[in-house]
Amino acid sequence: MKYTENDKRFNRYCVTTALPYANGPVHIGHLAGVYVPADIYVRYLRQMGEDVLFIGGSDEHGVPITIKARKEGVNPQQIVDRYHSIIKDSFEQFGISFDIYSRTSSEIHSKTASEFFRKLYENSKLVEKTTQQYYDPQEKVFLADRYIMGTCPHCGNEKAYGDQCEACGTSLSATDLINPKSTISGAEPVLKETKHWYLPLGDYEDFLKQWILEGHKEWKPNVYGQCKSWIEQGLQERAVTRDLDWGVQVPVEGAEGKVLYVWFDAPIGYISNTKELKPDDWEKWWKETDTKLVHFIGKDNIVFHCIIFPVMLKAEGSYILPENVPANEFLNLEGDKISTSRNWAVWLHEYLRDFPDKQDVLRYVLCANAPETKDNDFTWKDFQTHNNSELVAILGNFVNRTIVLTHKYFGGQVPNIGILNDSDRQMVEQMSQYPQKIGRSIEQYRFREALSEMMNLARLGNKYLTENEPWKTIKTDKERTATVLNLSLQICAALAVMMEPFLPFTAKKLYRMLNFAPVAWYESGRTDLLGEGHAVNPAQLLFELIDDKQIEQQTEKLQQTKKTNSIDSAETEPQKESIKYEQFAQMDIRVGTIVEAEKVAKTKKLLKLTVDTGIDKRTIVSGIAEYYKPEEITGRQVSVLVNLEPKNLKGIESRGMILMAENPDGTLSFVSPDKSLKNGSKIS
Ligand code: MF3
Ligand code: ZN
Repeated sequence: MKYTENDKRFNRYCVTTALPYANGPVHIGHLAGVYVPADIYVRYLRQMGEDVLFIGGSDEHGVPITIKARKEGVNPQQIVDRYHSIIKDSFEQFGISFDIYSRTSSEIHSKTASEFFRKLYENSKLVEKTTQQYYDPQEKVFLADRYIMGTCPHCGNEKAYGDQCEACGTSLSATDLINPKSTISGAEPVLKETKHWYLPLGDYEDFLKQWILEGHKEWKPNVYGQCKSWIEQGLQERAVTRDLDWGVQVPVEGAEGKVLYVWFDAPIGYISNTKELKPDDWEKWWKETDTKLVHFIGKDNIVFHCIIFPVMLKAEGSYILPENVPANEFLNLEGDKISTSRNWAVWLHEYLRDFPDKQDVLRYVLCANAPETKDNDFTWKDFQTHNNSELVAILGNFVNRTIVLTHKYFGGQVPNIGILNDSDRQMVEQMSQYPQKIGRSIEQYRFREALSEMMNLARLGNKYLTENEPWKTIKTDKERTATVLNLSLQICAALAVMMEPFLPFTAKKLYRMLNFAPVAWYESGRTDLLGEGHAVNPAQLLFELIDDKQIEQQTEKLQQTKKTNSIDSAETEPQKESIKYEQFAQMDIRVGTIVEAEKVAKTKKLLKLTVDTGIDKRTIVSGIAEYYKPEEITGRQVSVLVNLEPKNLKGIESRGMILMAENPDGTLSFVSPDKSLKNGSKIS
């Protein structure tokens, strides 16, 4: 039972989500782009009674993981163990309802990927080639293009990467760089011969044209468009092996020290994970043509899931191909690209700490703002607005009013439905359309639209209550009140079912409040879900207001990140011209103690200090008032240049200078001895 024609020919669903790299935690961009939409999709299908497998896992191979391990002085397995469990935990907490969440460092995966490669190899689907590649003689590793930096031959940028110059945008080959350097060791790379196996994508152009450009015009325009442009540019062969010691060994003689390219093994992870979950009948999910295979991914993964992986499956020969690849665009954060390295993100584990039990609020906001057709922006202000004026004011408010009134007038029991008037019938008619309306949107991957329809049902409920005013009719016409509350309760039950894909935690609460067991999706538009006399539990708030203070805390945290980043990226001032020791020795620098401090009237920056220099007690005026309060610095030992010419500042004679270190953001700090010294001690 499905609402769209295309889906009717499938008897089961195999739904996968991109396997996140296990080299960092997951953030809101991951959720919005991939996991929330996929979870909505599979929860809905399960509610429709469909046979679904929801497959996830961590991508644990690839060069960045090895680099991170090297930097931390641990082995790659330790890195992926750490992040796999953090990521898995975050997904669980947010209710991403995987049937399995496994990992590509598992044994079953290595066996599956290895056999897959072997079959292509034996059936001559791969091309073997020896080429020259850059090698880091110091670290004794071949270097991926990204790990080489040098001067761009086009624009002269000295910090161009081996695959691309970010200054002029040209895409490069590492061998194009002038003066190349390994970013791992800084050494100059050398060219060295190496043998690899390639997937000849060009041989599959006709197949791809037929299958995608002719056969899948219904794919999202962003996905279809990218595929079209890749195919029309002409497809090059791609190496599917790498010289690396972390990954799945290449199962061929003479391939020691080589592993499968991470983008070759990772998508096979979907298959390995299915095998792990369903050892006896996994093939049904991957080889039967009545299985619908759907990949949820972000836009940077399109070529791998629409072109390379399907070519691999086609070359292998026994697999079905994806029926759809609903890729999303990117989510930005407060106007800037989300970045792990710049810590510009809202991390899921941190969100949960700051907003405990508010998983559904984030799921809601991320779905309402999902970057379905274009990049989108997440802002905390908008998060607050969605919560306060939609979840609280519309959905929560409707449910609350209905249940409270049921308790007030009917002792918490569902009243008799009685006789419907025209406006009731109209409302019932509208309500009955929602399962199909929302269902169709979900089946077509239009999750924002689906969510806003769900909210429209809550709006319909609110409007119905407001127009029929049961709190007034109760005085004159109890039967009318009964009808209105009965129908409002039916809407609550319908909402519980239809919110479940989007807001699973809230749905559970509402089921409990209504004392009601979930029904199948397509039953949920009915008006007899709660029978007459059925007792409901007391009202409980489904959502709560989020105040300005909580929002300010979050934006401040981001502001702080910006500041830290600007300091981290600030250029260090170049060194000054050299001087002779004698020039330095002319300066008489001593340890002194600040014995008194006060603000200089009518200035913002100046403090008047009395300093015991060991030689004398003297007055020094110092521009540090923005960084130190007078009362917190008396008694401190500092460094004093004592033979600086006296100078008159704001009418005060200042004799000498306190030495200060300055952070790139302008923050000043004393330069103090690390143990207490006698005043007057020389600094040289
Ligand atoms: N780890 C990849 C990324 O985060 C996605 C891998 S998807 C898979 O971009 F198909 F390879 F598993
Ligand atoms: Zn350039």
